[in-house]
Amino acid sequence: MIELATTVVIGGFFGDEGKGKIVSYLAMKGSVAATVRGGVGPNAGHTVMYQGKMFKLRMIPSGILNKSSKLMIGPGVLVNPNVLIEEAKKYKLEERVFVDPQCAVIEEKHILQDKQGYLKTKIGTTGTGTGPANSDRVLRSGKLLGEIESVSRFIADIPTEVNRLVDKGEPVLIEGTQGTFLSLYFGTHPYVTSKDVCASAICSDVGLGPKKIDEVLVVFKAYVTRVGSGPIKDELSEEAASEQGWREVGTVTGRARRAAPFDMDLAKRSVMLNSASQIAITKLDVVFPEVAGIKEFDKLSNDAKKFVEDIEISLGVPVVLIGTGAETFDTIDRRK
Ligand code: IMP
Ligand code: MG
Repeated sequence: MIELATTVVIGGFFGDEGKGKIVSYLAMKGSVAATVRGGVGPNAGHTVMYQGKMFKLRMIPSGILNKSSKLMIGPGVLVNPNVLIEEAKKYKLEERVFVDPQCAVIEEKHILQDKQGYLKTKIGTTGTGTGPANSDRVLRSGKLLGEIESVSRFIADIPTEVNRLVDKGEPVLIEGTQGTFLSLYFGTHPYVTSKDVCASAICSDVGLGPKKIDEVLVVFKAYVTRVGSGPIKDELSEEAASEQGWREVGTVTGRARRAAPFDMDLAKRSVMLNSASQIAITKLDVVFPEVAGIKEFDKLSNDAKKFVEDIEISLGVPVVLIGTGAETFDTIDRRK
């Protein structure tokens, strides 16, 4: 087992970097007291694959495979009670899920608003109601989760719990959602999500101050994808993206993702905005098929090694984890 520091995991590009897999791996390899979700809400889709079984998570953090990890959702996150209840039930997590009473609630009307007009046609949102719910939150007119009876069994004071664990020296994993350039503050306005999603914001979502974070792990996929509208440098045609195997389908929306090669300038800015101390690169096997399933860095092909080393040198941050397949343990771990 590897000693885990209190770590916040952040998407380096436009979401869908594979944070779910990385969080799942970290939670399995370390003794994680709690995995805590920050970020926007159920517009995120995190996928965990383990022993051929696929878990799709929109509300519950991706530390589910480590049975001793509590699964928490911080007050900054929007909660759709139906999605929360369904996920907890489907994956039998009811005893481990804890949600803050100050989470704002996504109601049916928010979902309807998100599926029409400007948000749908111009921005291309996920249609999950997050933008309109955050808008109500800012107007101080929406509901809070503490008022919702159907989820009362999950309610807990998350900032107190998280700080108590960290102060005791118990490692906590904080899971961000979306990606740096979908941030309302730092992203490609107006094609962004409804709040900031960089490292500081994610920590704030769960009530943890900046001095209590040991590591900021920024996750980059080995290529860039984007779902919805907005700029993407050197975008491939649909055909070329399909040929490369880079044309993915969204977990939440089922929409095809647009694709482009790894963008070093964007990655540099991401490192700056998040004060990254560690990097993970996912889906290296999609760019270099010969590395599929490899678990040791030395066994990578020369091209794949060079790709990783170029990133490390250009960004000046160690690449500690490398994904070589969809399964949680298809991972090269260079922390040892
Ligand atoms: P919203 O967050 O649903 O309002 O959507 C705003 C923009 O962010 C759209 O381009 C969405 O496709 C994108 N987006 C939101 N959440 C995610 C995510 O988890 N992964 C990828 N894109 C996302
Ligand atoms: Mg996703």
